Amino acid sequence: MSNLNSETVLSVHHWTDTLFSFTTTRDPGFRFENGQFTMIGLEVEGKPLMRAYSLASANHEDKLEFLSIKVPDGPLTSRLQHLKEGDRILVGRKPTGTLVQGNLLPGRNLYLIGTGTGLAPFMSLIKDPESYERYEKVVLVHGCRKVAELAYGEWIANDFPKDELLGEYVREKLLYYPTVTREPFRHRGRITDLLLSNKLTDDLGLPMLDPEHDRAMLCGSPAMLKDLKKILEDLGFVEGSNNKPGSYVIERAFVER
Ligand code: A2P
Repeated sequence: MSNLNSETVLSVHHWTDTLFSFTTTRDPGFRFENGQFTMIGLEVEGKPLMRAYSLASANHEDKLEFLSIKVPDGPLTSRLQHLKEGDRILVGRKPTGTLVQGNLLPGRNLYLIGTGTGLAPFMSLIKDPESYERYEKVVLVHGCRKVAELAYGEWIANDFPKDELLGEYVREKLLYYPTVTREPFRHRGRITDLLLSNKLTDDLGLPMLDPEHDRAMLCGSPAMLKDLKKILEDLGFVEGSNNKPGSYVIERAFVER
């Protein structure tokens, strides 16, 4: 299994009964670009059972971090959810993905738009100094059904602005917009509706998204991606890829609930 590293689980955090995150050791030879995903998994009956997971950690960190849902009958997540400190986990050595800086043309504001565990690659990207060097504002929009599913929300809002390394950038440039659809919260509604009504940009004090100046990265369920893709393309956004940068990019490797 030379294409897989075996790592040790360092910590596990259960956000809700269906959502958890964990950190692992990182092989010193494991390199990735912020925003990418890799295959991770467990050995089941002598064979690796692997799924694509975005790296929620940034590439300057010495640990790897992953965010996962728990699917009751999911072949992998039904096992992964029982992970505990000290367990071993397999991590593919070949990270890949489209949510990387080089796939976007230069722009003014970067919108990172995720639902559910689609937040994960953006956790990596908000910890990337390049995000702040390249853009005037970095807008992180996270949509969930329930408040408790806004993973890392407290950390992003309260701790990250005090970060020794990135705090100054974060205070000046990062705008965090969490929104919830099935419970009362300060921001409510689907991201698609909040964009179409201009509520999101009005709340943030920003102009409506403009393909001339703004760039977007999307990660979430297929239904959300499809609807958001249409909204962006109607506005004139053009999808970028690994061989042709554009004004927005989509990550399609995503585990459904
Ligand atoms: P809703 O509660 O209205 O379905 P999920 O956990 O199903 O992936 O959903 C995560 C978040 O994404 C929820 O807030 C959900 O809203 C929202 N969502 C689901 N489908 C879409 C869509 N097609 N467009 C925008 N948001 C969506």
